[in-house]
Amino acid sequence: MPRRKKIVPKKVKGLKKPLQSPKGVRDILPNEQYLWDFVLNTARKISESFGYGKIETPIFENTTLFERGVGADTDIVEKEMYSFNTLGGDNLTLRPEGTAGVARAFIQNGMSRWPQPVKLYYDGPMFRHESPQSGRLREFHHFGFEILGEQSSIIDAQIIYLAWKIFNKLGLKNATVQINSIGCLTCRSAYKDLLTDYYRAKISKLCPDCRRRLARNPLRLLDCKEEKCMQVAALAPQILDCLCDDCHNHFKSVLEYLDSLELSYVLNPNLVRGLDYYTKTVFEIWPAGEEEESRQSSLGGGGRYDDLVELLGGEPTPAAGFSFGVERVIEEIKRLDLVKKPKIVRQVFLIQLGDLARKKSLKLFNTLMDSRILVAESLGRGSIKSQLKMANKFHTRFSLIIGQKEALDDTIIIRDMDSGMQEVVAMEKVVKEVKKRLAK
Ligand code: HAM
Repeated sequence: MPRRKKIVPKKVKGLKKPLQSPKGVRDILPNEQYLWDFVLNTARKISESFGYGKIETPIFENTTLFERGVGADTDIVEKEMYSFNTLGGDNLTLRPEGTAGVARAFIQNGMSRWPQPVKLYYDGPMFRHESPQSGRLREFHHFGFEILGEQSSIIDAQIIYLAWKIFNKLGLKNATVQINSIGCLTCRSAYKDLLTDYYRAKISKLCPDCRRRLARNPLRLLDCKEEKCMQVAALAPQILDCLCDDCHNHFKSVLEYLDSLELSYVLNPNLVRGLDYYTKTVFEIWPAGEEEESRQSSLGGGGRYDDLVELLGGEPTPAAGFSFGVERVIEEIKRLDLVKKPKIVRQVFLIQLGDLARKKSLKLFNTLMDSRILVAESLGRGSIKSQLKMANKFHTRFSLIIGQKEALDDTIIIRDMDSGMQEVVAMEKVVKEVKKRLAK
């Protein structure tokens, strides 16, 4: 058997060290996929059982969509978008979130003529140029759902219930729902004036970011995470005291529906969300626990956005939705050790010796797979010792060995890995013989 040459990676000319990915993005390796499958399959299944259908929207859109939809004064649009000009002269942006794209697709595909409400779910990568840190990536993934064409407050409650149910099924039973109403454009504008007056009187106590934001987006000051700003926010006038009758009644009935679902929530008058399209109900889901880290980042958020479709050029269409950060949810599942890594189960290990045997193994591997026998192999290896070592790692009950003699005779050795007993059988009978032994 010729000795295999050890493969040493060649140094690429001109590079001092190997190329790295950009900051804030990560690879998702095979050993993590079970968690991604668990989270996404659970969320998809529950959303479908609630009547949601899958939508996929492009990963990049015209920049105007987010400027108009998410809002020009938001952190996302001001400083976090990956925008670029194309050779054709278009200005495009890698989507920082999914709701604006779904609303655009609703208009463009004439979904207002579909039976209402239209219920859609999606998952995929989002891009925000934030400072990378734990739980904050530049490419991350959302699972989200949107319901368009229904204004009843019962939908707000059902959306929260759906989000809660997904978290519950994922094992995150102690995650808390925080909820608030930020009213409609009319009552919010009176509230903004009140808030601006309050904050102006306290301007010296605010962080530079909040001072800057005060004139354009005073609501955002309420959820600043700087300690001194949090102290000022604690005594700020509350929007719940300023809601118009319609918004007040809407919010009251959302809470009543949640009570009837026995879904517990925390009223957070400072919850305003970082995107401009929201109206009335807003909510977030936060991890359980008192750790500093878990208090810094929500697992998911959503709310009602009754003006968005019209803002993007469609008919007035009330809507609501929610999305969660898949990476953050996976981190929480890992932190709480909620899902065990599945063991790779293989029933037989295929060993070959010599060129002819290797050729025959390639074919046999497919035959075994087609017969639903879970088979592992190490076709690239030559020595029987190293292949048996591999077979032991997989803990298979049997090894199938094709040596040089067996390759010529068209036979195969079935070796019981526990007892070491070996039996030679005809190649054409191998599937039957293996199945017989596996069934014992
Ligand atoms: P959002 O709060 O901006 O809402 O994002 C939802 C979730 O995405 C967050 O709660 C967080 O878990 C995750 N997330 C956000 N930024 C990052 C990041 N840089 N790295 C990792 N995870 C992150 C929205 O995007 C809305 N579209 C939600 C919605 C749907 N509202 C109505 N429908």
